[in-house]
Amino acid sequence: MIYDRILITAEQLDARITALAQHISAAYNGDSILAMVLLEGAKPFARQLLSRLTIPAAAEYLKVSSYHGGTKSTGDVILNFPIELNNKIRGNNILIIDDIYDTGLTLASTVDHVRQCEPKAIKTCVLLEKQILHHRFVPIDFLGFQIEDTFVIGFGMDYRNQYRNLPFIASLHPDRIA
Ligand code: IMP
Ligand code: MG
Repeated sequence: MIYDRILITAEQLDARITALAQHISAAYNGDSILAMVLLEGAKPFARQLLSRLTIPAAAEYLKVSSYHGGTKSTGDVILNFPIELNNKIRGNNILIIDDIYDTGLTLASTVDHVRQCEPKAIKTCVLLEKQILHHRFVPIDFLGFQIEDTFVIGFGMDYRNQYRNLPFIASLHPDRIA
């Protein structure tokens, strides 16, 4: 068995993402946004979310990592921000999209960097928030679900680059953790 328990079904994801897209579209009230999607984990979430927005949106995809293959954040966040992106951020409504708010280090580092590029405004949208004491607090403007403190896989989220393909979100079976 690769997973222990299904926490969020494909149907629940679908319905929640539709609702989030409506909230986001209403919040920007016709303004355009530049979505910054944190790879790899946020890809499936962002694809569905962005396709359901009713406001003008562009997207940039950024490779950000802090886990390096384990189930605990290493604390070192590696951001790959191309110079051209810094210019695109200036004066724009930035919506940072990520899969999970866990320690908060990834989101906080991304927000810090984006802020230095002088955007018009920064908002955050995260599919899952782990109910833990985050190391860095980041305000989440649009949240999908709160989950317990367990390592999850599926719908973009991986363990050692596997299981991203699962259409639901499940907790990783303890036997699979090397
Ligand atoms: P943070 O920097 O600790 O908040 O971690 C955020 C990043 O770590 C997320 O963008 C995910 O890519 C990854 N991550 C955190 N928790 C999990 C998990 O339970 N499963 C898979 N990836 C996770
Ligand atoms: Mg991530």
